[in-house]
Amino acid sequence: MVEKYGHFVDGKWIEAGEIIPVTNKYTGDTYGEIYEADESIVNKAVQNAYESFEKNELSAEDRFTILNKAVTLIDERKLELAELLIYEAGKTRKDAVTEIERGISTLRASAEEAKRITGQGVALPNSADKGKLAFTVRVPVGVVVAITPFNFPFNLTVHKIGPALAAGNAVVLKPAEMTPLIACKLVEIFKEAGLPDGLFNLVNGRGTQTGEYLLKNNLVDMYTFTGSPKVGQLIKSKTGIRKVALELGNNSPNIVHKDVDDLKRAAELCVSRGFSNAGQACISVQRIYVHEEVYDQFLKYATEFTKSLVLCSEDNPDGDVGPVISEREATRIESWIEEAVQQGAKIIVGGQRKRSQFEPTILADVSQSMKVVCEEIFGPVITIQKYQDIDDVLHKANDSTMGLQVGIFTSNIQIVMKSIKKLKFGGVIVNNVSTYREDVMPYGGVKNSGIGKEGPKYAILEMTEEKLIVLDA
Ligand code: SIN
Repeated sequence: MVEKYGHFVDGKWIEAGEIIPVTNKYTGDTYGEIYEADESIVNKAVQNAYESFEKNELSAEDRFTILNKAVTLIDERKLELAELLIYEAGKTRKDAVTEIERGISTLRASAEEAKRITGQGVALPNSADKGKLAFTVRVPVGVVVAITPFNFPFNLTVHKIGPALAAGNAVVLKPAEMTPLIACKLVEIFKEAGLPDGLFNLVNGRGTQTGEYLLKNNLVDMYTFTGSPKVGQLIKSKTGIRKVALELGNNSPNIVHKDVDDLKRAAELCVSRGFSNAGQACISVQRIYVHEEVYDQFLKYATEFTKSLVLCSEDNPDGDVGPVISEREATRIESWIEEAVQQGAKIIVGGQRKRSQFEPTILADVSQSMKVVCEEIFGPVITIQKYQDIDDVLHKANDSTMGLQVGIFTSNIQIVMKSIKKLKFGGVIVNNVSTYREDVMPYGGVKNSGIGKEGPKYAILEMTEEKLIVLDA
């Protein structure tokens, strides 16, 4: 019996719409089913969130308590939820458990932030202002629609739901149709944690139908989305002057300079963080630039480490690298590699595909214009280029339409200072990889990588309005 989920509105499940199968990403078998929301279900969910927001004003302490209760419930079910992530998202057991643990800490941080939402005093400079008092308060925006991706279907959902509820908003969630089941568990957990009905609704379905209806509904005050730049641009173009927060892609560069303190560590970090989650992270290591003096040794360490990684198999998620989200994506990755090879790239290790399982692959002799370099590959593939000059490599790292996070390894403080200044990214990570992320940190990109920041404290700023109050006697 596969689990089947509809739409969670006002604390109850509604079963309506076309059925979409959810596959086991290891085997391709049906693992669960969801119904796809049509316009009337979407509008009902949004209307209910709107009314719930109007009638349920929770104190900061209530929000703190409910979010913390949800943390406890998730913690109690950690292994069961990780098991679900393994199959619906194709995660290795290690990656699945890590994601649930990260989600718990993101939610805990959101609970804590619920008690710290404040405005600020405003100094009034003119004598005409005498006797007046001005200050701001931060108020929830209202109804927040969260559209979440398949690659971290738990933690990246919590990154939106946690801050939105902590700030006092009502939420309508549309999870990725490939990985919706974990989100269905999450709404049930929040109900059990005592969240009033209607403050967290969920509609299932594809972006091209359910997502489109969500964009059309004028009762929505804000959209928060993680996914591709193409869909991000569509959301922005269809939502007028309403607020959006967009976490989009990246083809993350990582620079390894000749004076790196520990070359082996840098190589192993680059490789392991290029292949974790099968390379399906916006900050996954993709473009590695290595100084010519340490290039050969770096490649040796990177190759040795890659060869030591264990591929998962259909009946064993206990390896280091699992499948990508679908066979279609795996064949797309394969075709990009084939194209790069035709253009002169060399496969150092990997390159083979079995259904949706792709071997961790290192490509050398690549150039900036190859798709595997200039677009986001979103698979277990890293590319390595040799460089001579630091200014030139900083320019190459910036040579992208995207700019989320970048890593640079060097022990030269002058180069660190220059890199911080020159690199056009939302985050510059020194002596660690672009993938480095603590969930409380501000996270968001420049250029086509998005608008706004995540990380509970920063997402709350996006999900609240700063309202000015002036008191006159
Ligand atoms: C992302 O893919 O943007 C999220 C990566 C992460 O949280 O590690």
